[in-house]
Amino acid sequence: MSLYRPVKIGSLELPGNLFLAPVAGYTDNAFRSICAQEGACFSFTELVSAEALYRNIERYGLSVPQTDSLSPSSSPLCDKKNKANQAANNLIRRGENEKRYAIQLFGAQSESIYKAASILSPLKPDALDINCGCPVPKVVKNGAGSAMMKDPSCIGKAVEAAVRASRESLGGIPVTVKIRSGWDSSSINYAQCAQTAVDAGAAMVTLHPRTRAQNYGGRSDWTHITDLVSRIKVPVTGSGDLYTPEDAQKMLKETGCAAIMFARGAMGNPFIFSQTRSLLETGAWQPAPFSARTAAVMRHLETLAACIGERTACLEMRKQFCAYTKGVPGGAALRKKAVHAETIEEYRRIIAG
Ligand SMILES: Cc1cc2nc3c(=O)[nH]c(=O)nc-3n(C[C@H](O)[C@H](O)[C@H](O)COP(=O)(O)O)c2cc1C
Repeated sequence: MSLYRPVKIGSLELPGNLFLAPVAGYTDNAFRSICAQEGACFSFTELVSAEALYRNIERYGLSVPQTDSLSPSSSPLCDKKNKANQAANNLIRRGENEKRYAIQLFGAQSESIYKAASILSPLKPDALDINCGCPVPKVVKNGAGSAMMKDPSCIGKAVEAAVRASRESLGGIPVTVKIRSGWDSSSINYAQCAQTAVDAGAAMVTLHPRTRAQNYGGRSDWTHITDLVSRIKVPVTGSGDLYTPEDAQKMLKETGCAAIMFARGAMGNPFIFSQTRSLLETGAWQPAPFSARTAAVMRHLETLAACIGERTACLEMRKQFCAYTKGVPGGAALRKKAVHAETIEEYRRIIAG
């Protein structure tokens, strides 16, 4: 059987097993949309604070009663001047062509998770993901993200709260969790955390097998994924050090995980999804030509501009542009020019050379 295969996460059926990971600062709805076009089967918003979400529902566009008004082309927030609102809304709204997406929440208090999840129905997410892996100090100091792994019962309570909210307000969409291997090398407890989440109702576990202490450095330990697959009854998605189609193939083969999630490997390289599918199904893949990269940059920029305005989009695009031109001949010169680009037309001229 091909390593490219469907995945069932609770009631959610996905046609394939190549996912886009949540990556703060990158996976907004414009980028998720590009990845969906390039073959990502499922994607995740970046982590969103549960508490911030229900305290600022207007910022996220959630006070709008009619669900239709949140569709990508007609969101009233796209017309509003308030850039902060537009940016926040842009993070959690479904992207154009994004058939299946999950909203990722973080929060140490299960009540916050419940309240936030309960107001998400206008956005119609296909799943809710609970972040139990973020290593960032401002998240862990409040007991959220990877700090939840220090007390797995917190994970259980958060999942239970999300499952309850999903049942009551979101039509029972699946709740999933994303964890690390543990807090540090002396407290590797992914198996216990995952089982606690499953017992509380989680329908999938994503494991990024680094410890919090490793942050994003060193190597991820894929043997933890292999081990977890053998222990729990729900699909396991693997994350960590996936930079090429071959990496994804190797992870699927070696660990037996149900799906893989590209993170840094997809930044500026949305083609990795179709390339990986091609490798898994035919044994070969083609690099994306420069013209495909530049077309993706412009599509990305135009989608972003439609949501957050041209100038903000052009500024935001600078870091994405660095990712798109990494390793491209002449990329350094292009990046130098893009540092000053403030309009879509300027980007177009830079790319045209
Ligand atoms: C800049 C950055 C931001 C990230 N933001 C999130 C996030 O919001 N939520 C999350 O669960 N993981 C986040 N991650 C972790 C990734 O989803 C992924 O698990 C991790 O980068 C390992 O995959 P990789 O080694 O292939 O990049 C982030 C990673 C990076 C590098």
